[in-house]
Amino acid sequence: MTSKNILLAITGGISAYKSAILARLLIKNGHQVRVMMTPSACEFITPLTLQALTGNEVHTDLLDAQAEKGMGHIELAKWADLIVIAPASANTIGKLANGLADNLVTNVILATTAPVMLAPAMNQAMWGNAIVQDNLAKLARFGFTIIAPDSGEQACGDVGAGRLPEPETLCEQISQFLTIKNTAQTLAGKTVVITAGATLEPIDPVRYLSNHSTGKMGYALAKACVSAGAKVVLVAGVKVNLPTPLGVEKRTIGTADEMLQACLQVCEKADIFIATAAVADFKVANIATQKLKKTADNDGLTLHLVKNPDVLATISTTYPHLLTVGFAAETQDVENYAKGKLIAKNLDMIAVNDVSDKTIGFGSDDNAMTVFFASEYGLDKVNLAKMSKGNIAKSLVECIANLLK
Ligand SMILES: Cc1cc2nc3c(=O)[nH]c(=O)nc-3n(C[C@H](O)[C@H](O)[C@H](O)COP(=O)(O)O)c2cc1C
Repeated sequence: MTSKNILLAITGGISAYKSAILARLLIKNGHQVRVMMTPSACEFITPLTLQALTGNEVHTDLLDAQAEKGMGHIELAKWADLIVIAPASANTIGKLANGLADNLVTNVILATTAPVMLAPAMNQAMWGNAIVQDNLAKLARFGFTIIAPDSGEQACGDVGAGRLPEPETLCEQISQFLTIKNTAQTLAGKTVVITAGATLEPIDPVRYLSNHSTGKMGYALAKACVSAGAKVVLVAGVKVNLPTPLGVEKRTIGTADEMLQACLQVCEKADIFIATAAVADFKVANIATQKLKKTADNDGLTLHLVKNPDVLATISTTYPHLLTVGFAAETQDVENYAKGKLIAKNLDMIAVNDVSDKTIGFGSDDNAMTVFFASEYGLDKVNLAKMSKGNIAKSLVECIANLLK
């Protein structure tokens, strides 16, 4: 990642302490970091802390006698390659949405031509307030990139959405944003639906059948597609425990039936469908309404399983306009099985890996794949040697963009 001038704007919220760690992480990633703070932010964390961490003077005043011509805000606005407001208070969001400029932060943001990312953080009721949401929608229309808040327990004791994501997540989303700016927009104007993770088939109210899929490959693809300019909808299993990539719309599902319904809905207006999810082939025929109990006279339990719908085949048949990409994880006769699936499910492309190799595939950060294409493309298979799932995803996006040509 090339070094950028990042201007970190801190506003008055309880999560302002996380900005100190964010500043450190950005510096660690090789960026130049300068900090500006609202007067209210200085009540939560001292400028001295940020000055010590960044090695740069922290800017808090609009009137800057030190600056050449006394216009520090214009110099800062010009210096920045990217401005990140984290945390962004409801108050500052409201001011920006209405073009107000009554302190250094709001002035710099009005004066800059650099892109602005903002990470709203506030109490869940404030976050749910229609005025705040309306202000954010307006800022998004003006080109601001909004980093979605996390959900969970809040400093005030409430539980809900509005928490500032952890600094590592913010840093990752900033890196992703800068990558997008440097990536060829080969999927610009396209909508991509990606399934990821494992489905979960209930046995009774507390037990389920599932598998080891973590969703890493699907999430890496979602990032790569966003970076290539696509609008991405991720249909992810409820067990996936990964931060939603920047700019991705996520739908969470449990069972294979729910995954199919979600995909049928979102694929109608999509261009590309990528199925990385490990969908259970079978579900329990009669889900017990009460928890199943061990009994003294019964040493076994027989579950009657019935076939689940085939999500990939159903989508490729229902929406023939889609470019469909399948994945296969096999333990034997990998190539033959993959080619059979490509034809049987009417796919444009299939990526297959050998999961008998424990250093790749499920849960691993690396993968190695072979990609096959439908015969009408007249393309040879592509071997992707062992590399990170992020790099595999980029290569797969190149393959997809090539098919679109
Ligand atoms: C203890 C405390 C915590 C606060 N936390 C937040 C917060 O997390 N998010 C928010 O939008 N406002 C929060 N506020 C309210 C803001 O500090 C207030 O709206 C302030 O005017 C924001 O100013 P600024 O946007 O110029 O930084 C908090 C206030 C107090 C007293």
